[in-house]
Amino acid sequence: MAEESQGRIHVTRIGRPDAGVAPPATPPLYQTAAFDVADLDQLEQINESAVGYIYTRDNNPNHEALAGSIAALEGAECGAVFASGMGALAAICLSLATSGDHLVMSASLYGKTLVLGSRLQALGIRVTYFDVTRPQNLSEHITPHTKAVLIETVANPLLEVADIPALAKIAGEVPLIVDSTFTTSELIRPLEHGAAIVMHSASKYLNGHGDVLLGVAVGGSEHIQKIRETASVFGQNANPFECWMTQRGLRTLPLRMKQICETTRVLAGFLSGHSEVKRVWYPLLPDHPSHAVAQRFYPQGTGGILSFELQTDADSGAARVNRFMMAASEIPFSPTLADTRTTFSHPARTSHRHLAAEKKQAVGITDLLVRLSTGLEPAEVLIGELDHALRDSA
Ligand SMILES: Cc1ncc(COP(=O)(O)O)c(C=O)c1O
Repeated sequence: MAEESQGRIHVTRIGRPDAGVAPPATPPLYQTAAFDVADLDQLEQINESAVGYIYTRDNNPNHEALAGSIAALEGAECGAVFASGMGALAAICLSLATSGDHLVMSASLYGKTLVLGSRLQALGIRVTYFDVTRPQNLSEHITPHTKAVLIETVANPLLEVADIPALAKIAGEVPLIVDSTFTTSELIRPLEHGAAIVMHSASKYLNGHGDVLLGVAVGGSEHIQKIRETASVFGQNANPFECWMTQRGLRTLPLRMKQICETTRVLAGFLSGHSEVKRVWYPLLPDHPSHAVAQRFYPQGTGGILSFELQTDADSGAARVNRFMMAASEIPFSPTLADTRTTFSHPARTSHRHLAAEKKQAVGITDLLVRLSTGLEPAEVLIGELDHALRDSA
């Protein structure tokens, strides 16, 4: 903030409260591009020690506070924050692999992460894909050039669950990177199961209010230092305000995850018994292919996502889905997840749009598949809305 008086510019100094001023109850926001440095000695000291702040592309107190909080939640040595989940994933991959190296990715990763894999291939990094539900197949992919294995705890939209300890054992010395966006540290702490780096799209549950884009990576200091340097060069660093917002979101993470898990479990039971629903994909239902792994690692629930296929006799999938979504007017169609509101998405037309039709059909992502992200509404309200929409649109 600057004000002009009598021809001189007075800059209001923030972040340096006068002695005797009580500290703020919530952390201050350091919405600044740069920090004033006292002299060349201080500049040298900050550059040498990497402690302190010069320029927000490299570091900022709001970055540090949030990265530290999430590192503590995950049981990690340290962390870093990025402009989005994709920014985090790109920085992680580019810090570990270069032209001639090899990465292994789960074939069921988030759609844009698979696109990132293709972009990395175009840069000369070989990428191969494996079925995360068959850990033993991973060993066929590991070569002396393999620099990392990338998986998700629970995948979108069919909710395949990864057996992290089994995969970490097979990866051996190769770092296992786990995208824990769907589960968060409330449900699993992948570092305790052998992962080397955990990342999140903090745009989802960590912030939890659908109003932030942010990514985070946590792990050992050697990895995180390299990832931060990469992010600085490629300009992937986070905005301080988004960090401040997410820090606020974290305060309610345990409560939100608890309620969301409970409601999702109830909705899965309700939908699986509904005559207008052909099939429900939720790992804690006995007919889900990952049921045994989910029961072992996620006794509290696998988060707030489930998918279901609508029943139809006559019309095209898209027409049936459109009628259903119009009838469920209280639940918005919003191609994101982890908001406080319950939302629908349509994987075939959003996250998996780029997949060829036969591939979508083969993996079960049909036009009749609807994904639900449970919010904080009471379960009975959601059941009422889903029930009338399923019946009225049949
Ligand atoms: C599992 C997963 N990982 C990564 C991302 C990318 O995160 P962002 O949208 O913050 O870039 C998403 C986004 O939906 C996601 O669902």
